[in-house]
Amino acid sequence: MKLMSKYLDVEKIKEDFPIFQRKIGNNQLIYLDSASTSHKPISVLDSISNFYKLHNSNVHRGIYTLSEEATTLYEESRLKVANFIGANDNEIIFTHGTTESINMVAKSLFSSYLKKGDEIITTNLEHHSNFVPWQYLSKKYGLKLIIWEISKEGNLDLGKLENLITDKTKLIAVTHISNVLGTINPIDKIAKIAHKNNSLILIDGAQSVPHTQINVKELNIDILAFSGHKMLATTGIGVLYVKKDILDKIDPSSFGGGMISQVTQEDSMWAPIPWKFEAGTPNIEGAISISAAIDYLNKVGLNNIHNHEMQLSKYASDLLVKIPGLQLYGPNIKSGIISFNLGKIHPHDISTVLDTQGIAVRGGHHCCMPLMKSLCINGTTRASFYLYNTFEDIEYLSKFLLKVKEVFK
Ligand code: ALA
Repeated sequence: MKLMSKYLDVEKIKEDFPIFQRKIGNNQLIYLDSASTSHKPISVLDSISNFYKLHNSNVHRGIYTLSEEATTLYEESRLKVANFIGANDNEIIFTHGTTESINMVAKSLFSSYLKKGDEIITTNLEHHSNFVPWQYLSKKYGLKLIIWEISKEGNLDLGKLENLITDKTKLIAVTHISNVLGTINPIDKIAKIAHKNNSLILIDGAQSVPHTQINVKELNIDILAFSGHKMLATTGIGVLYVKKDILDKIDPSSFGGGMISQVTQEDSMWAPIPWKFEAGTPNIEGAISISAAIDYLNKVGLNNIHNHEMQLSKYASDLLVKIPGLQLYGPNIKSGIISFNLGKIHPHDISTVLDTQGIAVRGGHHCCMPLMKSLCINGTTRASFYLYNTFEDIEYLSKFLLKVKEVFK
């Protein structure tokens, strides 16, 4: 009997995503790589083509009709993003993605807030984007980078954090949801420990904001970074949220048009926040696509999406663990991300064989080499779910993993 989601009408949702009409070879596409990037519904695709067909022009520069329309659409999108995460619109900076958001804040924090001898805590669960910038800053400027290591199960133990944090700790940079293990970190509790010790907390929300309701004020997050393309919008657009009182104090890290209020030969004055952090022509269509994506996600309901994915991940864990030789990684309770190895078969080989059946998964280190090292492996195969995945997708995955075993017997 076909299992149906208790939370979403997935067949109906799929009709909104044109990509699911295509085939891979003779097979229907089974897309299990949304942690890498998500597909886009028609409403998002339409928002982009409508912008170019009807309103195309630059923002904040012209005082003619088209430019004012483009500016309105762009700024409305900022407000929508702010409402989506419970922030104020002047705390939302558009960037090119999570990586740029974190790099940008790393440079700005360093020039205005961090100094030699300060300590930063990050974890060995991080994507390179929330690890390498801090490692680089630490080496170059004499900061101390402290690694909060995960437990055997793939969780972060808060007791360990209490032992690592000192009066020199200025920042805790941690992912909300691991892009490899699906671990869901207790952000509210980490934020409390950070603030009790006068440290800031930065959250990599790339794998959480698209999938679960986040309110930055309720969680008391100082800095949050996420990407549009993992939440149904386009590539090349991202968000950096920073609390207003921090934004007011830090310098921009990129300079040029759009971010100034006055320039003389001798000096420059910055534009008000958030614009002082948006130098150059922004990704206007990307910002507009985020607005359409948020409308879509709100219509479906983030709580429904989260519950649906939790259901899928439990189903996948229970099914895959029955395959002889398959090892699952990460905690029992996890988001819609499942990582595994199958005997000694290389994850790239697994991905390649699954692709012959139309199944798209990611294999490799997932930009998390320190995590791989701590697990004593080179990589995993990863299946990640979103609102358009079904129980049947997971049954196919399980069935064809048995075929992979046959091929590499
Ligand atoms: N960060 C993306 C992933 O985990 C690309 O696949």
